[in-house]
Amino acid sequence: MFENFKPLPVDSILSLVKAFREDPRDGKIDLGVGVYKNADGLTPVMRAVKAAEKKLWEQEDSKSYVALAGDPAFSDAMIGLVLGESVARGSIAAAATPGGTGAIRQAFELVKLANANARVFVSNPTWPNHTSILDYLGMEYVAYRYFDAETRGVDFDGMMADLKDVKAGDIVLLHGCCHNPTGANLNLTQWQAVVDLLNETGAIPMIDIAYQGFGDGLEEDAAAARLVASSVPECLIAASCSKNFGIYRERTGILMAVSADASQQVLNQQTLAFLNRQNFSFPPDHGARLVTMVLSDAELCADWKAELEEVRLGMLGLREQLAGELQRLSGSDRFGFLAQHRGMFSRLGTTPDMVEKLKTEHGIYMVGDSRMNIAGLNAQSVPILAKAIIDVGV
Ligand code: LMR
Repeated sequence: MFENFKPLPVDSILSLVKAFREDPRDGKIDLGVGVYKNADGLTPVMRAVKAAEKKLWEQEDSKSYVALAGDPAFSDAMIGLVLGESVARGSIAAAATPGGTGAIRQAFELVKLANANARVFVSNPTWPNHTSILDYLGMEYVAYRYFDAETRGVDFDGMMADLKDVKAGDIVLLHGCCHNPTGANLNLTQWQAVVDLLNETGAIPMIDIAYQGFGDGLEEDAAAARLVASSVPECLIAASCSKNFGIYRERTGILMAVSADASQQVLNQQTLAFLNRQNFSFPPDHGARLVTMVLSDAELCADWKAELEEVRLGMLGLREQLAGELQRLSGSDRFGFLAQHRGMFSRLGTTPDMVEKLKTEHGIYMVGDSRMNIAGLNAQSVPILAKAIIDVGV
């Protein structure tokens, strides 16, 4: 049986982790995988998470199963965080999943179950695992224009023109904030235009929100998801707690299905629980419990928000420093987009050759499409990166 396996395509993000680790050079810079790092290059456990963990260790008296859709208290807390009061709670079904990726996978499975002919429209580019999972599930997808290679902003006209092809029942996958891999985002006026188009065509939005709090702030980053959820009859939202709670390895995420008609909620909730049962049975609880504890305790929540804001402002500062340094070295404003982008990533917009040169000649690792993890920088490495970018001829 095993001889039937074929070599699989290499994951462009995860393969960098290994290559970086094996590079013996001092001073190498890792701008690859989307994991937050502080100025010392560390990914610490957030203070509030650590405090919740201590409490949990003292209080938890059983490791028995919780529920197929996870603890309803986790769903309530996450619905509050992502959707606020924008949608009536009674019309939202939700299930905990193993990380944001688990939520995406469950969402695609749910779509397939509901409508085997649905096509999924994905931004070009998008997080490579979106299309990888769609391929794996044998689902049809269509790319819509998103990134303007010239301005490094959103090609909004192109995007809207391509989305005109959606049909009722198709899914439009949108990044709720902090677009991965580009860092280029829609403004709220543009989101409204997308919502109008979805309502005209009957296509269903699916929002992937994995970086809430890393862009313009916790509330600001949720504004698009709230606008969409409150304006369309049905939508799916896949949210991750990996980044904003820094609990990557705990695999904590949630899938929400919002329907206009509250009477649909019961069936949606059953379907989410059923899909969990088929794929992994009970979702992991530890990370979800920590998140619930942090969000429902005023003191822990305030401390978490404060630390998250430090993280966000730190990344913004690095963006501005990098854009400023490149302006000085190039004598032009053509790198100004780096300060405009939001979230953990920016797409530099260079050729794969230049990305390769940055790696081989300067020990700087970024994804082949020139996506940089801004959190991989610090005040000392920004000038080194800026000089290398100019050196390789960007
Ligand atoms: C990324 O985009 O780097 C992260 O979401 C990590 C991953 O799993 O790819």
